[in-house]
Amino acid sequence: MLNEAIARDLVGQAIEARRLAYVPYSNFPVGAALLTRSGKTYLGCNVENASYGLTVCAERVAIWKAVSEGETEFEALAVATNIGGSPCGACRQVMAEFAPDMPVLIADLSGLSTATSVAELLPLAFTPQHLQQAASARESDERSG
Ligand code: THU
Repeated sequence: MLNEAIARDLVGQAIEARRLAYVPYSNFPVGAALLTRSGKTYLGCNVENASYGLTVCAERVAIWKAVSEGETEFEALAVATNIGGSPCGACRQVMAEFAPDMPVLIADLSGLSTATSVAELLPLAFTPQHLQQAASARESDERSG
């Protein structure tokens, strides 16, 4: 698991990141802090839109920021809401794409409330590995057939 001081710091950053949330419709600010293997932290907040379905969650904003800066190896993600809310299903799937075993720290405004992981939040996840397996199976079918 994650070093306690690092976890506390990441949770603190997720709580802070919540302040920049653009939430005129839900009034439900979410903050996220993503620690990469290289030691950098990317922050995210939810960004809503008048066309509601275009809203992007805090967790995905943090992940998009990291990936678009060339970082795809993640150490941990913290997510903060006033009620210690859990990441949505879409965000769980995006986390599983890059880091199926990553620790996920769920926080409320007083700090860590639940320490979990992507594997626990999304059991039996569909991951890039499945597509690779399918491609290998097709290749061996073609060779033998
Ligand atoms: N939201 C997140 O940012 N992360 C989640 O995991 C759950 C939902 C946002 C989306 C929307 O702006 C607001 O919370 C209410 O759904």
